[in-house]
Amino acid sequence: MASSANSTGAIQTKPGIAPLRAGKGISFTLRRLHSLTGIIPVGAFLFEHILISNATAIGGPAAYARQVRFLAGLPLVLALEIFGIWLPILYHALYGFYIWYRGEANVVSYSWTGNWMYTLQRWTGGIAFVYIVWHTYTMRFTGIDLHQYPGASFGKVQAEVFQTPLFIFYVVGLIAASWHFAYGIWLFCAKWGIVSGDKAQKRFLAVCLAFFFVLSGVGLGSLAKFRSTPQQPRDASGAKAVEMSQPAP
Ligand code: HEM
Repeated sequence: MASSANSTGAIQTKPGIAPLRAGKGISFTLRRLHSLTGIIPVGAFLFEHILISNATAIGGPAAYARQVRFLAGLPLVLALEIFGIWLPILYHALYGFYIWYRGEANVVSYSWTGNWMYTLQRWTGGIAFVYIVWHTYTMRFTGIDLHQYPGASFGKVQAEVFQTPLFIFYVVGLIAASWHFAYGIWLFCAKWGIVSGDKAQKRFLAVCLAFFFVLSGVGLGSLAKFRSTPQQPRDASGAKAVEMSQPAP
């Protein structure tokens, strides 16, 4: 919400998304960095993770194993993970909690749609954070090492989503992250002046909403595939067998 003082000194509040303006020192830079990291690299990573990697899981365990092997084989993969994913997410999340803590949602005083969306942006970010921490910890730092045994990837995810409470957690985390990113693209474009004017912003909101449905639809499709396929191996020799097998036609 944008606000300014009129000639009598009274604060006037304009509905809409306030643009990010220059000249506010270090907090302006940190805020801009928060906004940018939401798109690149964090958003770009989420896009890849759901629409490319998870989408291949719909093709079955062997196809998924090949995708994970490709990602694990990227040059300097650990540096990519640390500097391209973990640190940017950590920055965006911690600064996001700081913005949340400092800000006022105004849902009661100004109950226009944008303000509800603004609040939802904070809650979906918080839920996504809990989910991301859990998912990274269990998939990357516990159990069989998927960089070494990509063939165990399908089975390792299955072991989580076969447990109903965890499956629900996965569904909620996925929907929260998808919403946060899709609406975040709209926020980003409004704040940086990429899409301006009421009409254009409304039309672009519909595009972002459609993107949310695509993102969460593909993600839910992959979760359904993990849950409906019989448990795949999670041990070293079973993983090798999955890697050697052909994907289902
Ligand atoms: C799935 C990972 C995430 C992605 C892809 C993502 C992406 C984005 C994007 C694109 C924006 C819009 C940028 C802008 O406001 O200019 C945004 C905003 C925001 N994000 Fe995230 N984010 C993620 C995780 C988080 C987490 C874990 C938090 C922690 C609470 C968070 C908190 C926020 C907040 C508070 C805003 C709104 C900033 C504002 O209104 O000025 N985000 N995010």
